[in-house]
This record gives sequence, C-alpha cells and structure tokens, in this order.
Amino acid sequence: MTDISSQLHAGYAHPLTRDLQTPTLRKSMFMYPLFITDIEDAAMDLPSMPGQKRWGVNKLEGFIRPLVEKGLKSVILFGIPEVKKDLKDDRGTLADDPSGPVISAIKLLSSKFPDLYIACDVCLCEYTSHGHCGILHPDGLINNPPSVARLAEVAVNYARAGAHCVAPSDMMDGRIKGIKQGLIEAGLVGKVTLMSYSAKFASGLYGPFRDAVDSAPSFGDRRCYQLPPGARGLARRAIQRDMAEGADIIMVKPTLPYLDILSEARSLAPDHPLACYQVSGEFAMIHAGAKAGVYELRRMAEETCESAVRAGATLILSYFTPDFLDWLEA
Ligand code: PBG
Ligand code: ZN
Repeated sequence: MTDISSQLHAGYAHPLTRDLQTPTLRKSMFMYPLFITDIEDAAMDLPSMPGQKRWGVNKLEGFIRPLVEKGLKSVILFGIPEVKKDLKDDRGTLADDPSGPVISAIKLLSSKFPDLYIACDVCLCEYTSHGHCGILHPDGLINNPPSVARLAEVAVNYARAGAHCVAPSDMMDGRIKGIKQGLIEAGLVGKVTLMSYSAKFASGLYGPFRDAVDSAPSFGDRRCYQLPPGARGLARRAIQRDMAEGADIIMVKPTLPYLDILSEARSLAPDHPLACYQVSGEFAMIHAGAKAGVYELRRMAEETCESAVRAGATLILSYFTPDFLDWLEA
C-alpha cells in the first residue's frame, strides 16, 4: 500500500507544476554593474571577468541600447579615473568631479534612456590616493565623521546629476543617516532611493573587481570596516541600524556564501526590498567552473540566482544580467 503522506512527486511531475513550486526569475530583478572609465572611447576587456569591459562614455549608448531593447531595467555605475589618476587625493575629490566618468555617464544614460533606472555606487576607494573607502587619520585608521560628510556630499552630487538611486558601499558608521540627511537638505529625499550595502563582508571574492576598477588599498586591508565573514550578529545589527537610519533597500554582499544572511535579512526587513550582489569573484568562479567542465554555465547562473530569490532577494546585482536578458522570457 502506498502511504498517502509520502507522495510529493505529483506536485512537480510536470514542467508547469514545477514552475508553481519555485520563484520565477524576471528581467526586472536584475541590476547590471557598469565600469565607467574617463578614457572616453574605451571598450577595454577585463581578463578576469569574461565579457565585461571598462566603458568610456562615448561607447555607452551603443553598448546599452540593445540591452535596453532586450528588457534591461537598471544599472549601477562604478567610476574609474584613468586619465586623471594622478589627481587621486586623500579625500577622493575625483568621486564627484562634474566632468568625471560617473556624472558624465549619469547624464548621458538619463538623456538617451529615460526609462532606465540609474543607481550609483557611492564610495571613495576608486578615488583616494590610499585606496581606502573613507578618509583616514594620520595613523591610517578610518576617521569616521569626515568620511560620512564626504560620502554624503558625493551621494547628493550624483542625485543632483540625475541618479535615481545612491548606494553606499563604503561601510562607514552612520553613513545612511548622513546621506539621508543630505538628500533631505538638497530637496531630493522624495525621489532618490537610498540602497545600503548593509551586510557587506570582507570577502575573498572581490579580487576581479579591484583589478577592474584599480581600487586595491595601497596598505592594510578593509577588515576594520567590512564585516568578518563569520559575523552573523554584526550583519543583523548593521541591517537593523541601516533600516533605522532610513535605507530604502537593504543589500547583502556577496551572495552565495551568505545565503543564510540573506534569509535573515528577509526576516529582519520583511517590508523592504532586499538586494544581493553576486560579486565579481562569484561571476569569475561560475565561469571558471563551466570552462573546466564542472557544470553548464547557464544552468549554474540560474541556480545561484534562483537560490538568492528563494532566500528572499528581490533585486540581484549581477554581471550575468546581459545573459539573463537572453535567457528569460520576461
Ligand atoms: C568598493 C566596492 C567593492 C565592490 C563593490 N564596491 C570592492 C571592495 O569593497 O573591495 C565589490 C564588487 C564586486 O566584487 O563585484 N567599495
Ligand atoms: Zn570602497
């Protein structure tokens, strides 16, 4: 006799019933990270990130148009000063250079693609001479108050230039509050989303990104501001703090080794959109595994993103975004 309570297969025997049991990936869940250089005609390959490039503003429209036609809804911008590299200083003056790559790209993209949602990563590491994410004391430790003031200034300048979303990835204490206050003073608080990289861990998976944007610190590391990989408690506290300080979207980063944190974030912030960043090292790892014949690329890209949605993500920052625009129906 078949035991009735043991029968599960009937619930997923058909492709349709399988669909009913799983979250559906949609194109609008994907945000595409773009590296923008101040070499205006550049389309430079990044060897550790297959298919990704450093883009100059003059090449952006041609690259982005077909993606928008395929359903691209959002991008997040990272700037790389190359021409002006020697002007990097201790407070990251180049971050909001009015003629710099990020502000130029915001203006170009918003005029050419009025429906595209434009987020900007807010950090100082690509622009400081020392490569750290904030302003330092003479002994090399983070000086938090001026760091927050500077990050708020940069975020407001991106918002003024037309960014729909500012996303601080620096991990300074109190920067969500500082940026929110800045947006209030600038009269932009009602229309600019504040997405916090809340639970950002000091991960080994950022290597290809640091090569891509040339932002490795010139001394020390980021362990005094990014979270220790095992620190569930600090992640929970950072998420709760950032909600209280006014974050509109909470993010967990990286994704795959931190799915438990993503799921915790879902329960700590049940009423917020929840983002995860499938970072450069995850992207490189999935490609490397596929190349080594361990699995099929598409299958593993889908499985990892589906697992993030299962854990609670509603937005995925991923270098696979252009691929998903080809793979997904809607
Ligand atoms: C810098 C920043 C990093 C990433 C996003 N913003 C790297 C870091 O903190 O060292 C990582 C993105 C990736 O690896 O794809 N604040
Ligand atoms: Zn940084």
